[in-house]
Amino acid sequence: MTRENLLFQGLIVLVSIICISHSARIMYDVSIVPEHCLHAKAIEANYTPRGGEYEIGNLTVYESQNRAAKRVLILVYDIFGMSTNIKQVGDSIAELYDFRVVIPDFFRGLPWNASNFPPANPLDIQNWLEQNPGWDTVVKYDILTVINAFQTRENITEVGIFGMCWGGKISTLAATEIPEIKAAGLVHPSSVSNSEADGVKAPMYLLPSSGEPDMLPFYEVLQQKFGDNCGHRRFDDMSHGFAGARGNFSNPLNVERVEEVIDILGVFFNRNLNNTS
Ligand SMILES: *[C@@H]1O[C@H](CO)[C@@H](O)[C@H](O)[C@H]1NC(C)=O
Ligand SMILES: *[C@@H]1O[C@H](CO)[C@@H](O)[C@H](O)[C@H]1NC(C)=O
Ligand SMILES: *[C@@H]1O[C@H](CO)[C@@H](O)[C@H](O)[C@H]1NC(C)=O
Ligand SMILES: *[C@@H]1O[C@H](CO)[C@@H](O)[C@H](O)[C@H]1NC(C)=O
Repeated sequence: MTRENLLFQGLIVLVSIICISHSARIMYDVSIVPEHCLHAKAIEANYTPRGGEYEIGNLTVYESQNRAAKRVLILVYDIFGMSTNIKQVGDSIAELYDFRVVIPDFFRGLPWNASNFPPANPLDIQNWLEQNPGWDTVVKYDILTVINAFQTRENITEVGIFGMCWGGKISTLAATEIPEIKAAGLVHPSSVSNSEADGVKAPMYLLPSSGEPDMLPFYEVLQQKFGDNCGHRRFDDMSHGFAGARGNFSNPLNVERVEEVIDILGVFFNRNLNNTS
């Protein structure tokens, strides 16, 4: 073998090692993902949802337009229900990162009325939530119903969950109590305390805004459990709800941040859910 050949092979090996170690790392930190791997321009101002609604038992779900994918993400909305913003985030992740994204209508068509926000008495929302079907009584079973439907009808078992505000709390409970959930994302989650990290059984990505308490203690527990396979990105320049129903998707900075959320979660779920079956 000539010296040139050896040098060439050495170079190939070196480049391969760099690529492999790089691609192993990109799953965990979007700031070092090569630009061409990210899918910008995910969000537009006057969006028309591209998916549609159907029933699973007595539960209505919205599903994004990509029905050919082999993995499911359950997207848990905020208290404002089936908003165009939430649908747009779902549609974008579905299309850009190849997932079936399903938004269950847990509130059965009766979300919190967005015209009454913020309410004069902030406790009104708390009271309203308590009158609504709760995690133990309905929401957990709705999620199990969705998982079961995909498993039996479509043979899909790769399932992740993510949610905004109230949906962040629900996603935490799902990652704690539902073993089928393989990964979870929390986007400006409401009422999630750091002590809840102890019970979490699936890798998680935390995306708090300036409206939430410090989630680094939660993240530290995740790191102890899952090593590098978890993440934390705090949006100090965004307020609570920026990626949900009340996010301003006409504001360029808000849009940029939502696109970052989409890329972070897309890369994270891509790493954790198998796409080969
Ligand atoms: C919806 O279906 C589930 C499971 O079949 C059942 O337990 C639940 O009571 C039903 N809910 C309503 C509102 O009918
Ligand atoms: C929401 O509240 C507004 C203002 O109070 C009211 O006009 C509207 O009818 C309400 N919408 C629903 C669906 O209850
Ligand atoms: C949304 O952002 C746009 C562009 O910055 C701004 O003109 C508009 O007033 C904002 N809308 C609301 C409801 O804050
Ligand atoms: C269901 O998926 C499993 C795992 O990918 C595969 O081995 C099996 O053949 C599939 N079954 C059907 C009926 O498609």
